[in-house]
Amino acid sequence: MKVEFIESDLLDGQSKLVATLAESVDIVYAALVFHHFTWEQQLEVARRLVGLLQSRLGSVVVGRIVAYRDRTGAPERASIQGLTPFSHDLDSWKKLWGMVHEGLEGQYGLETWEQTDRWFEERPAWRDISYYLCFSFRRVR
Ligand SMILES: C[S@@+](CC[C@H](N)C(=O)[O-])C[C@H]1O[C@@H](n2cnc3c(N)ncnc32)[C@H](O)[C@@H]1O
Repeated sequence: MKVEFIESDLLDGQSKLVATLAESVDIVYAALVFHHFTWEQQLEVARRLVGLLQSRLGSVVVGRIVAYRDRTGAPERASIQGLTPFSHDLDSWKKLWGMVHEGLEGQYGLETWEQTDRWFEERPAWRDISYYLCFSFRRVR
């Protein structure tokens, strides 16, 4: 299988990724990347990833994040280049994708589920407060 690697900054709306793949793919897989960004940046990145999808039923952004069971108890995050990344719980994650949905053509459905993982199984203290939150944001109409 031929694979092309396109190195791009997700915060760049003029990137090679956008220029090459806008509105052209069926599935975007976004694994463990949102946690680098602020709320506003995450909105921008989510909208950008949706913008890579073909405009048809079944097109989907799928991925996972590390989420807190309750973000109000989440440990302070160190800032990256002066910006503090936003840590999610399920409610804030749903809110983010609700905002992404606004203004989109068509209807999308967000599904979420918890993924069990050996890393968390071996660290019960972390498992008690956080988990791998998997998601899909799929065009349904
Ligand atoms: C925790 S790693 C996850 C790597 C891989 N996706 C996985 O699931 O194992 C986070 C990734 O986000 C990438 N990343 C961080 N900021 C980025 C940006 N502005 N644009 C593109 N990728 C970024 C990093 O280079 C790193 O590869």
